[in-house]
Amino acid sequence: MLQEKRILLIITGSIAAYKSLDLIRLLTKAGASVEGVLTKGGLQFVTPLSVETLTGKKAHIEMWDESSYEMNHIELSRRADLIVVAPATADFISKMIHGKGDDLASTIMLAKNKPIILAPSMNVEMWDNPAFQRNLTAAQTDGARLIPPQIDTLACGEVGIGKMAEPATIFEAVKAHFALESSLEGKSAIVTSGATIERIDSVRFLSNFSSGKQGAAIALALANAGAQVTLVAGKSSDVTPLHPRITTLRIESAAEMLDAVHQALPADIFVGCAAVCDFAITNRADHKIKKSEGLRLQFEENPDIARSIGMLPSPERPQVVVGFAAETDHLIDYARKKLSDKGCDLIVANDVSGGAVFGKDENQASFVTEDSVDTLETMGKEALGRAIASWIAQALQAVET
Ligand code: C5P
Repeated sequence: MLQEKRILLIITGSIAAYKSLDLIRLLTKAGASVEGVLTKGGLQFVTPLSVETLTGKKAHIEMWDESSYEMNHIELSRRADLIVVAPATADFISKMIHGKGDDLASTIMLAKNKPIILAPSMNVEMWDNPAFQRNLTAAQTDGARLIPPQIDTLACGEVGIGKMAEPATIFEAVKAHFALESSLEGKSAIVTSGATIERIDSVRFLSNFSSGKQGAAIALALANAGAQVTLVAGKSSDVTPLHPRITTLRIESAAEMLDAVHQALPADIFVGCAAVCDFAITNRADHKIKKSEGLRLQFEENPDIARSIGMLPSPERPQVVVGFAAETDHLIDYARKKLSDKGCDLIVANDVSGGAVFGKDENQASFVTEDSVDTLETMGKEALGRAIASWIAQALQAVET
């Protein structure tokens, strides 16, 4: 199932490095071609000979290889389809996000043009350290996919989070990566994201706390899966994923979002992830309203953008329409109602009681369809983006067969 897939495995200095040998076996048994890179730390735990025996290829350690004219740091990333760093130490992740290149492995990360999977391994205090957590968030923002470590008794004897994910878990993530990749090739998608705003006067507006992170993560996952994506993003969305297949359109109000979305049609996929203001202000002032004038706002209901797409007749209607439901109670009941009211194929339901979700990096969601509810575990917004892209790819396949 991984036939012809080329994986560059970077092994950094952690006791979990011995497990990477198992990972190589799982990958090569599934047909992948694996090439190993060892850092100086990695060399303390596994030998180049073990890696070479299992991969059937030379293990790379040095930047400059005397036996070849190749520039290792460029060549190794160019001929791989995916880079897996397992185990990934705190130091290596720190180097990655600061753009340091003082050995072969870190320079590969600087020169790379391929997707990355990170499987961290470290002591619990190192994991919890705010500096490390900042680096980890930055690495994910830069596009790396995280396979979180487990909670267990660690090699140092302390108990907590930090044990590298099992080779089988990393293997599954690699398989999932390739299953999603190119599953949406040739497809087009429109994603709405972030908060819309409604102007009150020339300096004030009404809005909400949506950050646009989830919508950006969905756009990125769809683009990584091969789709051409139009991301229609609200003013407050500060996360703009850079991907050659994503075109980002900035809008302010719900009316502008509606316009932009309809202009972007036709599309195979629509994902309505934006937190659209429910009401527009009808007596907006063009000047700054003085306090002495007082403020009395009048509203009218905004158009429902997701509904305007979900209810389109065929063939204008995208084949897969996904909406969101953020509720504080009766989550699944309301999600079901939204499915039919808005003509969606899937509602991604979030429990937002207690301020969860908005602006956070993690999300907990249920996939609600006409005949099923699939409650997912809490995961990063990138991971949820991939889960949604993968659901969409399967739904499209089902429609087409
Ligand atoms: O009705 P409610 O706002 O709870 O529904 C949320 C879903 O509908 C989200 O997918 C949101 O993007 C979409 N929506 C929309 N236009 C609106 C209101 C909500 O597209 N005016």
